[in-house]
Amino acid sequence: MKTILGINAYHGDSSACLLVGGKVVNAIEEERIIRIKHWAGFPIESIKWCLSDAKLNIQDIDYIAISRNPSAHLHKKILRTLTKIPSLSFLKSRLSNVARIGEIKSEIAAAFNVSESQIKAKIENIEHHMAHIGSSFFVSPFSNAACVTIDGFGDFVSTMRAVGKDRAIEILDWVEFPHSLGIFYSAMTQFLGFWNYGDEYKVMGLSAYGSLGFKNQMMEIVKLKDNGLFELDTSFFLHDKEGVEMVWENGQPVIGKLFSDKLVEMFGNPRETNEEISKKYQDIATSVQDVYENTFFHILNDAYKKIKVDSISLAGGCIQNSLANGKITQNTPFKHLYIPPASYDAGTAIGAAMCFWNKISTSTKTFVMESPYLGPEFKNDEIENQINLYNLSKKGCQVEFIKDETELYKKTANEISAGKIIGWFQGRTEFGPRALGNRSILVDPRRSEMKDILNQRIKRREWFRPFAPSILEEKTDEWFEQGSSVPFMEKVFKIKEEKRKLIPAVCHEDGTGRLQTVSVKMNPKYYKLIKQFESLTSVPIILNTSFNDNEPIVNTPKDAIECFLSTKIDVLVIGDFLISKVSA
Ligand SMILES: [Fe+2]
Repeated sequence: MKTILGINAYHGDSSACLLVGGKVVNAIEEERIIRIKHWAGFPIESIKWCLSDAKLNIQDIDYIAISRNPSAHLHKKILRTLTKIPSLSFLKSRLSNVARIGEIKSEIAAAFNVSESQIKAKIENIEHHMAHIGSSFFVSPFSNAACVTIDGFGDFVSTMRAVGKDRAIEILDWVEFPHSLGIFYSAMTQFLGFWNYGDEYKVMGLSAYGSLGFKNQMMEIVKLKDNGLFELDTSFFLHDKEGVEMVWENGQPVIGKLFSDKLVEMFGNPRETNEEISKKYQDIATSVQDVYENTFFHILNDAYKKIKVDSISLAGGCIQNSLANGKITQNTPFKHLYIPPASYDAGTAIGAAMCFWNKISTSTKTFVMESPYLGPEFKNDEIENQINLYNLSKKGCQVEFIKDETELYKKTANEISAGKIIGWFQGRTEFGPRALGNRSILVDPRRSEMKDILNQRIKRREWFRPFAPSILEEKTDEWFEQGSSVPFMEKVFKIKEEKRKLIPAVCHEDGTGRLQTVSVKMNPKYYKLIKQFESLTSVPIILNTSFNDNEPIVNTPKDAIECFLSTKIDVLVIGDFLISKVSA
């Protein structure tokens, strides 16, 4: 069976995955191992883990697929570099990263302490947006679908539309540098005082509080085109002129200022990072989200007109916008959606591998990605070793080993309903940005105070950011206005009006929740836990937030125990162990 190592390298959210015989056997983001959020660079630890998990050596790999292609769109890149903007640091930094892609074999050989000639794998470059498409369509349940990707930039493209049919992807059109919906959203995120890489979701959360007071101005910045795509008024931005500082190497990515003085003339002073979020900034956030959604639906509706199929697969950083995703079926004719658990750049490791596999394979649909649980898992004896290493019994903790699984779920559900904060660590780590019931902090959604308690005691998040509900899949249409499945927390739905007061801790300002629907097939342990909670409380919902403080989501028992000890989590349920802080 052919083995393909897929990687996203020299870029934010660097990651690796392994495909064996056309099936994704594992995947992980480098940040989970290195413990630095959004880590950019070469994902060597991820590659090592993927191989050791599958009991393979680097010499066993047939192909290495990377989600960048130095020759894609090259004519445009060179033209721009040579004629228009020769000193542009944006382009220079991207091109120097692209140059490094040619050094992959030597980088891997050095990391594994072998010679380059011992690595038989052929390197395959897959254009960034093709890799995004592959990360969605090729692992979707569809044999024929519209494919749309939207992000900041990758290989100098920011949006691509295509038709996916069996093992082929036919590109329809794309949007090139400097026009980008992702850059628009990121620039406005910076303007609103959020400067960290990946902070865009904060603007999405804030958008529930304002009004559309700046909508008309926003529409001057992003213009819809008759061809179903869009363009930016680039005078509001810097990325195509002075250049924007970008740091992508061996650490958290840093993106310099993206907006020009003209944006400040239009909206007044940008918000300082620690400044109070006044009504004006709330209105800007709401208007940004609205223009994003209008542009998004414009792209999708036009894609439907041209492709005329009911199914759509989506990917790209912008597809993390769960609020817009939750409105697709109401605002477009598409009836069936597929969004993978990692629609942002981490997922391109899987996409690159899948694109190449579909090139060399003769079988169609070898893998449908229904589960996000692709990372490391740990047995009870490994967990026990860590418990002993940390001497938890002597640190004021009561450690119980509960062999009977029903008993474990009952006790945990009891603790949740009593208002305790639970660290829940089970099975394989999730691939993607969301904790989906294997590396989660769980609390009672009925208690309105839990949001503040979580923020004071652990998460220290901004006041306007919502917490998410996990719900038994079969109960979704009783509690939400839409009843379809949302396995990866990739959509936001409205909570039914009459139910909102019953689950105040997971109901956002606008009456929505970014839900995860949990089925027994996808996650039996988590399903049974929620079922126990329902039998105690008649509420089939638990508040689920990621198991971390401000670091990447915990990956190993060591990470979980350290987070448990350094925060005010009351109970840690890890494997079959239930550990309580006695003094808590
Ligand atoms: Fe991307």
